Amino acid sequence: MKDLSVYREAIESHLSNILKVKEPVQLYEPISYIMYLGGKRLRPVLTLMTCDYFDTPIEKAMNAALAIELFHNFSLIHDDIMDHAPLRRGEETVHEKWDVNTGILSGDAMLILAYRLFEDYDPELFRDLAKLFSKTAIEVCEGQQYDVAFETRDDVSIDEYVKMIAYKTAVLLGAALKMGAMVANASEGSQKSLYDFGCNLGIAFQLQDDYLDAFGNAETFGKQVGGDIIANKKTFLYLKAMEQSAESDRETLQHLFGISPKDPSQKIETVKQIFQETGAAEATQLEIKKYTQMANKDLESLELSEEKKQAFRDFATTLMNRTV
Ligand code: IPE
Ligand code: IPE
Ligand code: MG
Ligand code: MG
Ligand code: MG
Repeated sequence: MKDLSVYREAIESHLSNILKVKEPVQLYEPISYIMYLGGKRLRPVLTLMTCDYFDTPIEKAMNAALAIELFHNFSLIHDDIMDHAPLRRGEETVHEKWDVNTGILSGDAMLILAYRLFEDYDPELFRDLAKLFSKTAIEVCEGQQYDVAFETRDDVSIDEYVKMIAYKTAVLLGAALKMGAMVANASEGSQKSLYDFGCNLGIAFQLQDDYLDAFGNAETFGKQVGGDIIANKKTFLYLKAMEQSAESDRETLQHLFGISPKDPSQKIETVKQIFQETGAAEATQLEIKKYTQMANKDLESLELSEEKKQAFRDFATTLMNRTV
């Protein structure tokens, strides 16, 4: 078992090998820009961690880990276009710094570069990794489409929301973990436990992302606080508030989530107040705990030592308490 910083350093050093700005620079510069903006590198760390825990050299999982991180960053470029987001990791988003067309094409290229990273694996492993990658990628697209469609719907249920975030976010964490186990040739049972762990962890992770989008600290969060409220995103916060509010608050919320004022500051303040007063903010925190506990339960049948399972639990706890 290694310290997580060892995985992070290995990721950064391998990234510099695959990211070379070449011609045309307008295509490759935005790729380097987003990849070096930082980010928590959660997904590739999970891939390397899993591979290492099954006693396989992490180098073997490196291409899969980087493929996942490239895909993640591609999805962020396109997501920021779709969400009209000005900020990413405390800096300008790609479509703001360059333009929308640049974001589309550099994003497309990243998706292809991600696929390419699987090419060096042996045929059987290549097929299995590519299969999981494709299944995951199409689910992310499906989740993203639900997310956007929900902006203009006023009858979204909590079940629909959970499905949406499971697809747009959670399955990628599940795949990151599972790929590490696949590379290490772990048993089917362990692969499944880790995938399920990642999916529940990913749901908790997206709930926390939604919470921070409203209540995070603008100085440290790195994204525009209130962005989901501006875009009328049907988050757990909103759906719970609708469920738990009195008639008048419900009407206010419904009205505010049907308009897009030029200056959104008053809308954001009012909505955040309703999220607090109705107990929706607290309910979100409880839901995050619930999914984190479900994730931890998925580890029970995993064929790894107690010490290694504890490291996954600690990872989950850190995510639950994060502010970025
Ligand atoms: C942001 O993911 C997108 C979501 C799925 C919420 P991260 O919070 O992992 O983003 P970075 O890579 O650390 O910036
Ligand atoms: C993240 O959803 C989903 C994907 C990037 C596919 P968000 O739209 O909430 O992510 P952030 O908050 O912009 O990072
Ligand atoms: Mg977004
Ligand atoms: Mg989005
Ligand atoms: Mg978000």
